[in-house]
Order: sequence, then C-alpha cells, then structure tokens
Amino acid sequence: MTDSTRIVIIGASSAIAEHCARQWAGQAGHESLQFVLLGRDQNRLNAIAGDLSVRNPAATSQILCADFSRAEAIAKTVADIVAGGTPDIVLIAHGTLPDQQLCQQDLTLAADAMQINGLSPVLFAEAFAGHMQAVNTGTIAIIGSVAGDRGRKSNYVYGAAKGLVSRYAQGLQHRLAGSNVKVVLIKPGPTDTPMTAHLKQDGASLASVESVAATIVRGVSKGSPVVYAPGKWWLIMMIIRHLPRFVFNKMDI
Ligand SMILES: NC(=O)c1ccc[n+]([C@@H]2O[C@H](COP(=O)([O-])OP(=O)(O)OC[C@H]3O[C@@H](n4cnc5c(N)ncnc54)[C@H](OP(=O)(O)O)[C@@H]3O)[C@@H](O)[C@H]2O)c1
Repeated sequence: MTDSTRIVIIGASSAIAEHCARQWAGQAGHESLQFVLLGRDQNRLNAIAGDLSVRNPAATSQILCADFSRAEAIAKTVADIVAGGTPDIVLIAHGTLPDQQLCQQDLTLAADAMQINGLSPVLFAEAFAGHMQAVNTGTIAIIGSVAGDRGRKSNYVYGAAKGLVSRYAQGLQHRLAGSNVKVVLIKPGPTDTPMTAHLKQDGASLASVESVAATIVRGVSKGSPVVYAPGKWWLIMMIIRHLPRFVFNKMDI
C-alpha cells in the first residue's frame, strides 16, 4: 500500500469485511488511510469506524448508507464515492445465507436471495469498474463463495447467485486484462460469522474470521485472480467440481 490509501467497503458491517478492515488498519506505513464504509446500519458502521481509528490514528472513515437493490441507486452511490477520490481497493462483501427449503417454497425469498447475493454485488463491481478503468488503477475484490463452484441441493439458490458473481468476475478480469486494474474473486469456505451462527450451533466446522480475512487481505495485495479462503478449499472444490454425476448425486451435500 502507498502512503495515502483509500479503501471502499460495500457491506462494511459484514464480519469478514470488518476483519479485513482491521487488518488493513493494522498495516504499517500509511500517512493517510481513508475508509469509505457503506452499509445500511449507521450505528454499526459508526462503531466500526471508531474501532478502526483506535487501531490506527491515521485512519479516517466516511460512513454511507445506501439502497443495495436498485441499479440506479447503486450507480449514484458509486458515482458519489468516486467523486470523493479514486479507490485503491474496493471490497464488495454483502450477502445473506438463505434457507434453501424456504426458497423452494417461496419465490419471493428466492428472488431476494438471488438479488442480494448475485445481482447487487456485480452491479456495484460494474459501477466501480468503469471509473477505475478510466484512471487505470485500483483493485476490485468481490466476495463469492465456494458454494458457487457447483450447485448442490442443500444451498443451490445461494450457490447460483454466487456462481453469477464468479462468472461475472471472470468476465471483468478478461475485460481488464492488460490494464492496471485488478479484479480479485474471493471464495470463502464456511467461516465463523453471524451468517453461519446456526451452522455453528449444529456443530459445523468453521474457519476463524481472522484467518479468512488474513487470506483475503494477502490475496488483494497480490492481486490474485481467485482467492480460496482458507486455501484448502481450492483442493476440496476442485474434487467436488470433478466428481462424476453418478457419484455426486448419491452425496447428501
Ligand atoms: N460466513 C461464511 O461462511 C461465508 C462463506 C462464503 C461466503 N461468504 C460471503 O462473505 C460475505 C460476508 O459474509 P459474512 O460471513 O461476513 O456475513 P455477515 O457478518 O452476516 O455480514 C453480512 C453483510 O451483508 C449485509 N446485508 C445482508 N443483507 C443485506 C441487504 N438486503 N442489503 C444490504 N446489506 C445486506 C449485512 O448488513 P447488516 O449488518 O446491515 O445486516 C452485512 O454487512 C458475504 O458475501 C457472504 O455470502 C460467507
């Protein structure tokens, strides 16, 4: 990172995003570190901003609340952010883990899940991409999921939305290849955050949010095209993607 760094976080109240911000704040060497924290809960964002300024007195935060669902609102929000300065890093982190069974019974829930996990993040990325391409600098990091790698009966509505994020990021990487703008697709495995609290109660094995954030921050700094977090999920998903259908269909996953 340079002496003066501007980091925009969309869905800044996400536990994974908050821990990434803490790690960025903890890195040495900024004369000026400016966060733009975008979310929908102002009190929560204020608390995160306060914590970041304690961790690093050079860190300042701009808090923004916005509509994450309408394309025009996303375009306007991003234009306003970019008018305040070109971001060095944009991290797009918002999402929800819907109940698959309920989505099957209620198309409105399925539509909402697709919107917030798929369409909304890619529209944010698309809105930033044009601005960042014009100045030919910066990194767009967008959080997908290992769930996007292969549709499974236990969570394919969420998985389909995350698959959209993956394919979108792939296309954006192709568009920006040869430029100085990096696009980093992040695929966390199950991670201990509020999103997975119910899985934790059921005894699921979850990675710590600190370790996942560290992997993301490292991947963003390298500009890696795809970051599995933890890294072991690269191997696990490679195997799952390649399982023949007659084996896969017998699995209760
Ligand atoms: N945790 C995991 O196991 C896991 C695994 C793979 C991928 N991921 C992905 O990682 C990202 C971060 O998740 P997390 O684990 O950090 O979850 P989290 O702590 O529960 O945070 C979810 C974030 O999404 C925001 N959000 C949810 N619905 C929204 C809506 N309708 N409009 C605007 N914002 C909304 C929340 O805002 P509020 O604070 O206002 O509710 C919060 O900022 C997500 O994209 C998630 O899909 C997580």
